[in-house]
Amino acid sequence: MSSPEQPSAPSSSVSTTSALLEREPGWWRSAVVYQIYPRSFADSNGDGIGDIPGITSKVDYLASLGVDVVWLSPVYASPQDDNGYDISDYEDIDPTFGSLADLDDLVAALHARGMKLVMDLVVNHTSDEHAWFQESRDPASPKRDWYWWRPARKGSTPGSESAEPTNWASFFSGSAWQLDEQSGEYYLHLFSRKQPDLNWENPEVRQAVYAMMNRWVERGVDGFRMDVINLISKQPTLQDAPAVPGRPFVPAFEQFANGPRLEEFLQEMNAAVGLDERHLLTVGEMPGSTIELARRVTDPANSELNMVFTFEHVGLDAAPGGSKWDLAPLRLPVLKQNLAAWQEGLAGVGWNSLYWDNHDQPRAVSRFGDDSPEHRVNSAKTLATVQHMHQGTPYVYQGEELGMTNTQFVDISAFRDIESVNYHAEATGLGLESETVLASLAARSRDNARTPVQWDDSSHAAFTQGIPWLPVNANYVYLNAAAAVADQDSTFHHFRELIALRHELPVVVEGRFALLLPDHEQIWALTRTLGDQVLLVVANCSSSPATVPAGALPDVSGARLLLSTHPGATSAELAPWESRIHLIG
Ligand code: NOJ
Repeated sequence: MSSPEQPSAPSSSVSTTSALLEREPGWWRSAVVYQIYPRSFADSNGDGIGDIPGITSKVDYLASLGVDVVWLSPVYASPQDDNGYDISDYEDIDPTFGSLADLDDLVAALHARGMKLVMDLVVNHTSDEHAWFQESRDPASPKRDWYWWRPARKGSTPGSESAEPTNWASFFSGSAWQLDEQSGEYYLHLFSRKQPDLNWENPEVRQAVYAMMNRWVERGVDGFRMDVINLISKQPTLQDAPAVPGRPFVPAFEQFANGPRLEEFLQEMNAAVGLDERHLLTVGEMPGSTIELARRVTDPANSELNMVFTFEHVGLDAAPGGSKWDLAPLRLPVLKQNLAAWQEGLAGVGWNSLYWDNHDQPRAVSRFGDDSPEHRVNSAKTLATVQHMHQGTPYVYQGEELGMTNTQFVDISAFRDIESVNYHAEATGLGLESETVLASLAARSRDNARTPVQWDDSSHAAFTQGIPWLPVNANYVYLNAAAAVADQDSTFHHFRELIALRHELPVVVEGRFALLLPDHEQIWALTRTLGDQVLLVVANCSSSPATVPAGALPDVSGARLLLSTHPGATSAELAPWESRIHLIG
């Protein structure tokens, strides 16, 4: 695809307030968000890593898709241990991605096209190279209590076996505690040892975070996606989790997630930054959240967050009681009933976020659809149809609109993601066959979603003029944005039409949800009702033909067929991955 013309963005010397955009109350309910993982989106300078000017060069592409908001994964200063989710300076941009001036230009370019920018907010932890943590390493420092420092377990010598203050496992393998030789104490890191957890019990930490957020809002950003925000409140007693035989460190979610002060902190943040008052978009990543908690957090009366990212639906293809690496088959009734429970649970009170994939999840079409040449396009379209017709704010992950697929790495040396690399080392160390581990990685590694966006069929898919930091998927020669934009029948145009429907029809935004045929193994059917209008979605989520049981769905004679994967078809027979949206009334 030829690069869209560079927008005439104002230079950063222009007052940033000129970039501020009016935000109507509740505007995010009818919005579609597009997530950009900057490292893999578009590289402007040939170093093989995507950057902010690269994103700015693609704003016309985003505008043509019709999305309202860009959520930008972290671009702050960072040693890049976890690709930017380890921040060493919240107030600056990492040179890998550009400069503050580049960010101002991006904000202005988006605002000039009526789009908004949401920044990632990573405040459960910082980088160990952040000045706050560096200062905190001195036991006499006033910042010692800004992080979770603890002595070795009673009766043990620091550094000896099982001397860690608790038996908690890190999300990235091994212990969640790291000994700092300098002070002889351990610090908590729920992710890598270069991501020490901030101690939100300390009011100075909270005030420093809110002040930083305020500065970003004043700079012109329109909201925040809050990284693992439900980990900011932990059970302050830091107790061991129940032991698991044969495992030195164990998952300890109950101890460090959804702690007793979570909602208090969120309310305090909301007031201190004026999140509601300024009509900012707020979405909190909350693994392990229940429907009840999400309902309270997203209830506007509580002034916490607009919506949360929940994880139940992306955990349904893991073996019960196992980790994400323990693969298990997924049955459609389980998936659709889970989404329905969230729809019903939040109805009329809170608000859902809707996503199939992101930078931490495998590609949707490879996981929930069928990425074979025969079914890839229709399954990508049908998954999108089902997602966008639920109630909530849809999130499109870069390349999802093209039907991009998982990678095919066969050797561990190809992986770059810290979680994948650590898991391979730990699991093979514990005696698991390398082949089994590689099969899990092929299905679940975060690198699946992180291969560069495929822009056209030229070298490295035009992602970079250099060598990409992660290889481009070989299917870029036919699966790319240029081809998709040129083909009216592509997944790109299907996404564009879904987004347009949301903007045109209040029933897509506000319609009451109902799941039909909840136990059907192939068909996902639902209605959305507003006044006398009923939206009926019928989707065959399988690679075999399916038949709609007689009399099971509302009559569609006289209804408008708004969008379909197989134009013109209306019979009770559904082709593999065929889906239709009807408007009745
Ligand atoms: C969730 C982010 O989405 C993920 O990419 C990151 O590794 C962890 N939080 C730690 O920040």
